[in-house]
Amino acid sequence: MVTKMSETAVAFAKDNGARFVEELKALLRIPSISTDPEHASDVRRAAEFVAAELRRIGMENVRLIETSTPEVVLAPSEGPAMVLPAREGHPLVYADYLHAVPAAEGRPAATVLLYAHYDVQPPDPLDEWKSPPFEPTERDGNLYARGAVDDKGQLWMHVKALEALFAAGKGTLPVNIRVIIEGEEEVGGEGIATFVREHPERLKADVALVSDTEMFAPDLPTLCVGLRGMIYTEIEARGARTDLHSGMYGGAAPNPFVALAQMIAKLKDENGHISIPGFYDRVAAPSPEELTAWKTLPFDEEQYRKAEVGSTELTGEPGFSVLERTWARPTLDVHGMPGGFTGAGAKTVIPARALAKVSMRLVPEMTPAESFALYKSYVESICPKGITVEVRLIHAGDPIVVSTDNPYVRAATSAMHDVFSRETVFVRGGGSIPIVSDFIRELGIPTILMGFGLPDDNLHAPNEKFNLANFHRGTESIIRFLTNVGA
Ligand code: BES
Ligand code: MN
Ligand code: MN
Repeated sequence: MVTKMSETAVAFAKDNGARFVEELKALLRIPSISTDPEHASDVRRAAEFVAAELRRIGMENVRLIETSTPEVVLAPSEGPAMVLPAREGHPLVYADYLHAVPAAEGRPAATVLLYAHYDVQPPDPLDEWKSPPFEPTERDGNLYARGAVDDKGQLWMHVKALEALFAAGKGTLPVNIRVIIEGEEEVGGEGIATFVREHPERLKADVALVSDTEMFAPDLPTLCVGLRGMIYTEIEARGARTDLHSGMYGGAAPNPFVALAQMIAKLKDENGHISIPGFYDRVAAPSPEELTAWKTLPFDEEQYRKAEVGSTELTGEPGFSVLERTWARPTLDVHGMPGGFTGAGAKTVIPARALAKVSMRLVPEMTPAESFALYKSYVESICPKGITVEVRLIHAGDPIVVSTDNPYVRAATSAMHDVFSRETVFVRGGGSIPIVSDFIRELGIPTILMGFGLPDDNLHAPNEKFNLANFHRGTESIIRFLTNVGA
């Protein structure tokens, strides 16, 4: 009976696959860029688009939940507390279906919490896109658009798996479902974090399924079992009271860009080691079993350098493999230094102020609060004379590792085996999905990170794509996973 249900649903997904892709294109045309206030109404339009479809396929209690982030106080064990200011947020999309018939007498039906995000990163630099970022275009079996794989395409796999299961079950599902979809993952996800902390009962479930990660290689079913955390910061340096003529005052007036460059140069040495005192104190090494397993993954460093990174050399800490450096070691990066004169030609000015956007990726057992406190006091201690510096926290998220020893992991690997005919590999991801730590801590449920992106999908970069075969295989894997959990 149960098997028949998943086969009927898979057949429905195959028959309707072309339509699913056309619908996804409509979602991808909405520029739901969460970081840009000018796109706030587009972000809302994307939320409404997803909610309307959840309603149409038969989900219940579909609603947008408004978010606003109250002031967040991060208190390190020592030193002063940090305050993130309150702000308006983008809406959450919620839906549920809670009438699944238990598979066994006397045992309640299981509930799966489906999580995804409908917001996207900004598309720039625009002139590097082969087709415009918000005009989804198929080329060579791939769908190109901002958000194609991160995360609208993967969100759509969830929605379409539910549609296929409803069709197969004649309006019923084999498992209880709650759906929570956020619109500010790409800007730190504070709104959903507040919602989860305030209303854990409204997301009560046995397991969370997140499709927002990658497969390790094409055709290789993958579960992600760890993510890095992060702190995203700004350093603002101020020198003179106002911008100054660099000929009249150069030699006497402090330059905040030079000061920033000097401070940034002291954050990390030429070996990629972060110089902030105490920063590595809590870093936990992966287990020997995990390190051994990583050595058996199909990874070619030279191919990675050429095809994915495209630089003359890879950098980073000596003594650690690339996978360790990107999955299990903290890093520090500079994203941009706004301010001063950046127009065409030349302007001789000493800017009064300069900004640097700096983030750090964190690994287990590091905490955002403590890492930020160490970083802030170090930056203040190396500030050149004549400059005042302000270090601000923009957003923060915890690192995680998830357990691989539970029935849901087996439901996932068995589902993917049916689709890919291969054993699943377990990897970590270098990226961050801030809410996952709250699912684990606040809801106390295991999280399955089952994603279908590929290493060359250009997340956050020009020409982001989703391999359409993976969209369909992902949808099928989710249908089978949900059916397995229901059984
Ligand atoms: N989907 C990514 C995270 C990801 C990518 C995890 C690849 C594992 C493998 C997510 O949308 C993302 O980009 N997150 C941001 C979070 C940040 C803004 C708090 C990130 O990692 O930069
Ligand atoms: Mn994502
Ligand atoms: Mn992303």
